[in-house]
Amino acid sequence: MADLGTTYLGLRLKNPLVASSSPMTESLEKIQRLEDASVAAVVLPSIFEEQLTLELEALDRDLHRGGESFAESLSYFPAYEDYRQGQDVYLAQIQRAKAACSIPVLASLNGATVRGWVRFAKEIEQAGADAIELNTYSLATGFTDTSAMIEKGIVQLVRQVKEATGIPVAVKLSPQYTSIPHLAMELDRAGADGLVLFNRFYQPDFDIESLDVVPKLTLSRPEELLLRLHWVAILYGDVRADLAVTGGVHSAEDVLKSVMAGAQIGMMASALLAKGAPYVKTVLDDLVRWMEEHEYVSIQQMRGSLSRRAVPDPSAFERGNYIKTLSSYTMRQTVL
Ligand SMILES: Cc1cc2nc3c(=O)[nH]c(=O)nc-3n(C[C@H](O)[C@H](O)[C@H](O)COP(=O)(O)O)c2cc1C
Repeated sequence: MADLGTTYLGLRLKNPLVASSSPMTESLEKIQRLEDASVAAVVLPSIFEEQLTLELEALDRDLHRGGESFAESLSYFPAYEDYRQGQDVYLAQIQRAKAACSIPVLASLNGATVRGWVRFAKEIEQAGADAIELNTYSLATGFTDTSAMIEKGIVQLVRQVKEATGIPVAVKLSPQYTSIPHLAMELDRAGADGLVLFNRFYQPDFDIESLDVVPKLTLSRPEELLLRLHWVAILYGDVRADLAVTGGVHSAEDVLKSVMAGAQIGMMASALLAKGAPYVKTVLDDLVRWMEEHEYVSIQQMRGSLSRRAVPDPSAFERGNYIKTLSSYTMRQTVL
């Protein structure tokens, strides 16, 4: 049988399919269902920076301060109260998952500043997590915040968390940076062990009847994968950090594309939320079937084969592609 084994953040994984942070991994029972279906690793739902400070007044202020980053990030949680977990509950969840499961368990911290993270990162390590994923969900809503300031903040955060802990640290990024390669290189230098591309950008919707701005979360669509493939294919071979794709991975084909772009793993949330834990097995069976039909013996063998470095025409990832894409559409219209 084809060898599905891969590594991620120095961890050995039995295959390249990881359950990303979502309610799919919120309880031991759910994690065990994923493990039974042969998922390679799980990322727990995030604990929020604001939970770490435990300043309830500040939390309340943040929640009601429109346009600030935390209020925006709450769109992850339609019923935030339902998900709120104290620090001890979070640490106990890591311990329980590690005691009951044999797959790697990654903790997830969501925030944008250093507040409280460094201390808590140490506690996460002591609780037994195999790695930490830092979800750097920040939104530049202040008119004096420059890109350079925001990026510097993220890089400093990574450096400090790395100094504080001995376990690997992956950084989950938003796609909304002017230069993804530059930021990736800076994070690489700061010691990030992995880059997870990309966070989804949750935008609130307008309710025009009640004149209200309401949080809106829709599950992802497979088309969202293309943005991730593009940037992974560009970064592959130039950054030391492992690359992971999150966003739009819905099928075995999507996992294969992620690996061919250069990723160590493909992560799934929406497809698992929609289809349930057993869907992991379907994806892995499809993966093996495809590899055997195409005579691939291992995942490693195909990694990066469609990266910018590997393809004969790298302009497919550059500005030239824009022109080609537009003109290909015009030609199709002419034929019609
Ligand atoms: C309901 C829901 C809750 C999520 N919660 C978190 C979270 O706590 N932390 C995090 O980093 N990402 C969270 N995500 C984002 C997912 O981990 C994932 O990155 C994103 O949904 C894109 O992957 P997908 O296309 O497979 O859904 C959440 C996603 C959903 C749908």
